[in-house]
Amino acid sequence: DKAPVIAIDGPTASGKGTIAHCVAQALGWAVLDSGALYRLTALACLDSGIDPADEAAVANAARELDARFEGGLVFMHGQDVTDRIRAEVVGNLASQVAAVNEVRQALLDRQRVFRQAPGLVADGRDMGTVVFPDAPLKIFLVADVAARAQRRCKQLKEKGFSANLANLMQDMEARDARDRSRTNAPLVAAADAITIDSSNLSIDETVDAVLGLWSKLV
Ligand code: C5P
Repeated sequence: DKAPVIAIDGPTASGKGTIAHCVAQALGWAVLDSGALYRLTALACLDSGIDPADEAAVANAARELDARFEGGLVFMHGQDVTDRIRAEVVGNLASQVAAVNEVRQALLDRQRVFRQAPGLVADGRDMGTVVFPDAPLKIFLVADVAARAQRRCKQLKEKGFSANLANLMQDMEARDARDRSRTNAPLVAAADAITIDSSNLSIDETVDAVLGLWSKLV
């Protein structure tokens, strides 16, 4: 029998990471930040000067990714890149490499190994549609673009990056448009997903909403 998965998908900075983390903590489950794998692929390309338009080279970088997740930190080639992968330039490049089908194929198994007892909370764009289509609970987490830009701005500043609200809003809309319109695993709610709008919800309220939905299933 497969371990249960709570899939949390949605646009950029809708709070998926935070909510996934808190829900996983509450249930004692593992968490998968699938976006980190696309960000790592992007960073690998940046560091080795791979042209993002060279799809074969980008796919190769994804296949050869030497990444490790440990204690909330992310390592590449043994180096702690937890903060580096959060840079906006990396996020935007991640969205470009994520449109390459071979990249998505290369990262599939790396995501599925996270599914282990007692359960997994997985956050991304295609958790409920492609990676874990049999997840018993699928959440599509949305928030209006102003709320999301404000959250991302705060997050970036906390990590020591500079951030400008207007630019962020623009980047965010461009990134979401690209994620929604790509042919491979586009950002879309699964048919059986439940949408939660967190624009006016606190973190605790959103976490409680997800836990409430889960408790009704078990
Ligand atoms: O969630 P995060 O902002 O870290 O994701 C970075 C980029 O990686 C997204 O804009 C998206 O293009 C891509 N991504 C994806 N599928 C996922 C997770 C992230 O295509 N499951």
